[in-house]
Amino acid sequence: MVDPQQHWESIYRSKATDEVSWFQPHAGSSLRLIHDTDAGLDARIIDVGGGASVLVDNLLDAGYRHLTVLDLSESALAEARKRLGTRASQVSWLASDITQASLPANAYDVWHDRAVFHFLIDPADRARYVQQVLHAVKPGGHVIVATFGPGGPLRCSGLNVVRYAPDTLHAEFGPPFRLLRHETEVHQTPTGKEQEFVYCYCVRT
Ligand SMILES: C[S@@+](CC[C@H](N)C(=O)[O-])C[C@H]1O[C@@H](n2cnc3c(N)ncnc32)[C@H](O)[C@@H]1O
Repeated sequence: MVDPQQHWESIYRSKATDEVSWFQPHAGSSLRLIHDTDAGLDARIIDVGGGASVLVDNLLDAGYRHLTVLDLSESALAEARKRLGTRASQVSWLASDITQASLPANAYDVWHDRAVFHFLIDPADRARYVQQVLHAVKPGGHVIVATFGPGGPLRCSGLNVVRYAPDTLHAEFGPPFRLLRHETEVHQTPTGKEQEFVYCYCVRT
């Protein structure tokens, strides 16, 4: 079995960040959904499996001040830090597996994940992920999770994924999470392929 940490390290070491299929020059949907939570610029936001995504740049540009980026790959985080230059020191960086990370309790107003949860093909890992959200997100906090939709790819980056419709994604999280909104986006990969994503926005009750 592939070690996930080694797998992602080798991906980020072998490809430029704008060559990977999930690359976005601007994290528009994520930024808009985070803005629409009305959590405000003082919100404590964690981007789970943020990798080298520009969401952190976009959030800093928008004036958000309390940002954490967590990822399994040190190389991905190093890439993001390099791109941000001196602004990188305004962000907390956590190199960890989200199913095992030691996160502070009731710490975050907003939990964001684009294209990470769908890699958890073992139900036990998904249960551990949901426990992490319950532990780390404040009651009343906002949870935005984007996965491949029912028409999305079956694999990404050489790994199998689980695809979700909004109701099946929400069902993974269960009653402590109230689904407020969902939307579908067709992502264009750098090679011109289309991938269906489903974004779910829930409140942790
Ligand atoms: C498809 S990429 C998406 C990156 C970023 N969220 C984006 O939208 O550009 C998946 C990311 O999740 C990270 N990842 C995969 N499994 C993880 C896990 N169990 N814990 C933390 N990060 C993980 C990978 O290193 C990679 O950066």
